[in-house]
Amino acid sequence: MSPAPLPLLLPDGRPAARAWTLDPALTHLNHGSFGAVPEAAQQEQQRLRAEMDRAPVVWFPALPGRVAAARSKVADFLRVDPRDLALVPNASAGASVVYGNLPARPGGEVLVTDHGYGAVTMGAERLARRWGGSVRTARVPLDATAEEACAAVLAEVTDRTALIVLDHITSATARWMPVKEIGAAARELGIPLLIDGAHVPGLAEDPLAGLEFDVWVGNLHKFGCSPRGASALVVRSGLRHQLYPLIDSWAAEAPFPERFDTQGTIDASSYLAAPEALGFIERTWGWAAARDYLRELADYAERIVGEAVTKLTGESAAVDVGMPVNALRLVRLPDGLAATRLEADALRDRVAAELGVEAAFTSFDGVGYFRLSTHVYNTAADYEDFAERCVPVLGSWARGTAERH
Ligand SMILES: Cc1ncc(COP(=O)(O)O)c(C=O)c1O
Repeated sequence: MSPAPLPLLLPDGRPAARAWTLDPALTHLNHGSFGAVPEAAQQEQQRLRAEMDRAPVVWFPALPGRVAAARSKVADFLRVDPRDLALVPNASAGASVVYGNLPARPGGEVLVTDHGYGAVTMGAERLARRWGGSVRTARVPLDATAEEACAAVLAEVTDRTALIVLDHITSATARWMPVKEIGAAARELGIPLLIDGAHVPGLAEDPLAGLEFDVWVGNLHKFGCSPRGASALVVRSGLRHQLYPLIDSWAAEAPFPERFDTQGTIDASSYLAAPEALGFIERTWGWAAARDYLRELADYAERIVGEAVTKLTGESAAVDVGMPVNALRLVRLPDGLAATRLEADALRDRVAAELGVEAAFTSFDGVGYFRLSTHVYNTAADYEDFAERCVPVLGSWARGTAERH
């Protein structure tokens, strides 16, 4: 039994959500997709922008040094060597850096999984086309254990495999992948590995400890709550000498990671404000306590929403994802809802418009899921509202879909 944890409060006793500017008229259950920025970090970004606009000619020449200082703080947070970490705008950009710079391998295969993030997999497909090769997709059962998932991925390795792209936490299926085991095998086989850790920063204390990989990318603007447009690109192999930022600029001759600090004339305030967001959570609750809260709240939310759907459909809505994540969970939707990605997105939009709930719906193997997120500003009442008020409506929409077919 997972009880409802007591809401987190600010030091002055107000609810945690008061430190964010999320619309109180809506219920926010989807931190995972786009994050949410605490006001302290928004203000820091605004302060930096004001500084930039007061004296641009002072600001821009000094910017690379300030980006370097920010990336060093981000490296401390992720517990990685600052010499291994560059800042990029988002996880998609990090994957694009790899796809754009990997030495050509004519006829090579890029190995992905069927849990991969669509946009990152599309990039892999384009890379493979450029090589005159192909993408090979490992099918990993939703409930696969670490061992089973590892075996499913490695079974698709061939002598043409030139890159493995693997999610650390998957998006549609909200599960961890066994990156440690697959990383060790890839290193032994001499195959480059790109780990898409978009959801990871903030969700694990030392997320890259003991991992072997060539490149790992993680968004700071998801669970790290930083202003959007800030991600860490961590490189731990000789590939660092071949990776260049997406924008060719004046630091091109500099070594990794310094050459990523200069990107022409851009607004890098999201990079500079990222440490304030990470620091806000640390000084207010501490990341370790925040993570405990996220997990306890997700246990409770998954249970009560799952029970509500089960009661409605008569079939268990509980989902075994094999390697569950602390702050992201799946609940199976009534049949007929979100069977495809497009239907899932349409359901998200309808739920926001008609029910006032920001939520994520996903689809995997033709089955639709409610993917709930938890963050420090969420409380048990958010999910109780979803279970009591929204689940019956979802049931009626599902029946409507079934009647139309
Ligand atoms: C696994 C995964 N990869 C990549 C991304 C893309 O992130 P961004 O839009 O910040 O590039 C996401 C976003 O949800 C994701 O979940």
